This record gives sequence, structure tokens and C-alpha cells, in this order.
Amino acid sequence: MSEVIPMFSHPVVTIDDYPDSEAIADRFFEKSLALMEEYPDAGLISSAWHSGQRARSREDIEKHGFTSFYNVNLGKREDFHFMNQAAMAVFAQYLRVVGKSNLGMRLDNAWASVYGKGHFVPEHTHPLSHLSMAFYAAATEGTGRIVFENPSRGHFQHFYPPEISWMHYRYSIQPKKGLFVVFPSYLVHHTEPHESDEYRVIYSANVQLQYRKPTDSDREGESTQSGIYQQV
Ligand SMILES: [Fe+2]
Repeated sequence: MSEVIPMFSHPVVTIDDYPDSEAIADRFFEKSLALMEEYPDAGLISSAWHSGQRARSREDIEKHGFTSFYNVNLGKREDFHFMNQAAMAVFAQYLRVVGKSNLGMRLDNAWASVYGKGHFVPEHTHPLSHLSMAFYAAATEGTGRIVFENPSRGHFQHFYPPEISWMHYRYSIQPKKGLFVVFPSYLVHHTEPHESDEYRVIYSANVQLQYRKPTDSDREGESTQSGIYQQV
């Protein structure tokens, strides 16, 4: 018997059957278009993304695409509770799948992106977070895959050019409406250009896992826990 062992994977989890995902997608779509009106100085994506440019006109947004990333943390907005709540349930599902369901999480930030035709997001990671997600509120069929780079690529690409390599340089996922994609925040990724006249709308979020290594004092019980930093 032979067995292939996929050693040292970097798990990415997709969920396409979250309850009421169609309704959540439609609601987030509408609210994202409203954000575009609310924040005329929004961040830009595509070629303007790496330099952190902001819109000075509606034409800038039409040309490059929209992100609310610099304007507002949707994780703190009550009117986006429906979306944040679903996101936290999906992050919890990720932790269950990887066997770490005992860990606490804190929603760090969340934002909306709206792509028009030709828009994309260049290579990046989500620094200082542990887990990240994309939820596709609108995604025309067959366009703009999200592409993850193999973090081990630097170790093998010099000796294994693509023609002879059985180790993948990258892995692509085709978005569709209602799909959640959860991934470790350190994975380098980008999106291919959107090729439709219809908007593509994405909710993104980052969480930090809550963990501190227990000290001897913690184990000794509550008597030593009331310190000067305790809130009364
Ligand atoms: Fe990203």
C-alpha cells in the first residue's frame, strides 16, 4: 500500500452552504453600495492599492475600485451585525475543522470592497492577524479567482521549475456568490482582474486568536488574580 501524506499544509476552508447566505449576500451588497456613497474619499484598489491611495472623485473609484478599509471598521458598526455575526460563526467553524475549537477570537477589523470591470487586488497578506476571510456578496460566474501562493515556494522553486515540479506554486479558488473563504492571515494572496460589468462585492474580516500562556500564579487560583489592573 502506498500513501501520499500532504505534510505541513496551510489549511484554507471554504463554506458555500452557510444558512441564509443568499439573503446575507444581498443585504451586504446593498449596504456596500451605500458605503460607496457614504465615503467618497474611500481607499482605492487595483494599481492604486499598494500606495494606499484615496479617492478624490467618483471617477477615481470607477477607475480603480472601492474599499472601505481606511474609512471605517465594519466590525464595530451595529448595522453590519448580521454580517459580522455570520463571519464569527464561520471563523468558529474553521477552528473546529482544524481541531482548535477551544480558542477564543476577537474580530479585529472588517471592510467592504467593490470591484468594477478590470479591478483587482495585488499580492498581500493581512498583517498582525491570525485568520482572515473573504465572503462574496456578488461574484459573476468564472471571474476573478483568489490566488494563494505556496509559502514554501522560496525553498523549492530554484531547483524545481514548474515543468518538473509536482509541488504547486499557487492555488486558486473560484469565488461565487455566498461563498466564504477562510485562510491563515500570513498566506500571500491576490485576486485576478474582475471581467464583468456587474459589480463584485466582498466582505473581508480579520480575527486575532485569544491566547496567553498560563503562569504558575494563574494556576494557583483566583486569590492571586486580583491585581492593580483589575477593573472594578
Ligand atoms: Fe486579502
